[in-house]
Amino acid sequence: MSNPSLLILPGDGIGPEVMAEVRKIIDWFGAKRGLAFDVSEDLVGGAAYDAHGTPLHDDTMARALAVDAVLLGAVGGPKYDNLDFSVKPERGLLRLRKEMDLFSNLRPAQCFDALADFSSLKKDVVAGLDIMIVRELTSGVYFGEPRGIFEEGNERVGVNTQRYTESEIARVAKSAFELAMRRGKKLCSMEKANVMESGILWREVVIEVGKDYPEVELSHMYADNGAMQLVRWPKQFDVIVTDNLFGDLLSDCAAMLTGSLGMLPSASLGAPMANGRPKALYEPVHGSAPDIAGQAKANPIACILSFAMALRYSFDQGAEAARLEAAIQQVLADGVRTADLMGPEGGVPVTTSGMGDAIVKALDASL
Ligand code: NAI
Ligand code: MG
Repeated sequence: MSNPSLLILPGDGIGPEVMAEVRKIIDWFGAKRGLAFDVSEDLVGGAAYDAHGTPLHDDTMARALAVDAVLLGAVGGPKYDNLDFSVKPERGLLRLRKEMDLFSNLRPAQCFDALADFSSLKKDVVAGLDIMIVRELTSGVYFGEPRGIFEEGNERVGVNTQRYTESEIARVAKSAFELAMRRGKKLCSMEKANVMESGILWREVVIEVGKDYPEVELSHMYADNGAMQLVRWPKQFDVIVTDNLFGDLLSDCAAMLTGSLGMLPSASLGAPMANGRPKALYEPVHGSAPDIAGQAKANPIACILSFAMALRYSFDQGAEAARLEAAIQQVLADGVRTADLMGPEGGVPVTTSGMGDAIVKALDASL
């Protein structure tokens, strides 16, 4: 059998810098754990525009559709701000998400003990926190028709439409239940069934899908209450599933429970491929950080944790993903800090590559 395949798209700004550290980790798993990947690399975003005049070449798109998983750094930067909308770096990322039909966006909020002081919440509220928000990514109010700004009488009216089909709800619900099965077997679905018909249907379909997962404890919450509960006592949750709009807000809110943007990974999953694994794109939540690009300051952990998610969700290597997360936990406990993680208590300052090296060392120590 051939090795699992991974397409790496470093992109722009700090993208290539953090991806270089991920390559060290991938090489480590190949050399020390016998986990070899067929890794290929290609251009996306501004880098692709510079080379081909388009933010995503058709060949790259075809490769993304053929591999087991795609790992992306970040796209964009001031150099490209004045490009025509159709060739902006973001369009490359949007095309990937659309053509891979990635409808399920996974955003973990995980608190690394050594960073609990970084949270704006009390330490005991976030210490040990490990929750996952599943956001529907390809439908809902960002896509529903009719939409636009129309003339009505003697004034303008702005219109967007929240629209969900049963099958759109069912597939993201299934993805969330599957995730809950691998985790704490607890799922909370959030909508506003009290004021929105799309929310009523959402709740009905989630309950229907849940019948196939009797082991998962399912609960429902209005999304506004969900927002309050997330900051009041986030540890009451394990997996949360919600629509595109509420998920946009709730996942950003949950992410900040735990501190720095440089620590946040994500996964976007689509329908199962022939091998049973979902189509998948893994990427840090942060952007290309032009303000620190080229200065060896970027924190590579968000991108490395995105690879850990790939190990878990695309390659069935949950134990190795946990090994990598534990190595990061250890490095942080040792006080190793990129600039963004340097708090008042100080620490051992490292560059981007210094952080990658420290994680590799901690992996070695885990053997
Ligand atoms: P950003 O996430 O790039 O940066 C926000 C702030 O966080 C900056 O001060 C940056 O230095 C810091 N930061 C981000 N990642 C970090 C890391 N790994 N280590 C240390 N510090 C980090 O968001 P911003 O500034 O709004 O956007 C910059 C560019 O990135 C824009 O062109 C934007 O369009 C693009 N962008 C791309 C995204 C993607 O590729 N998925 C997502 C968000 C923005
Ligand atoms: Mg957002």
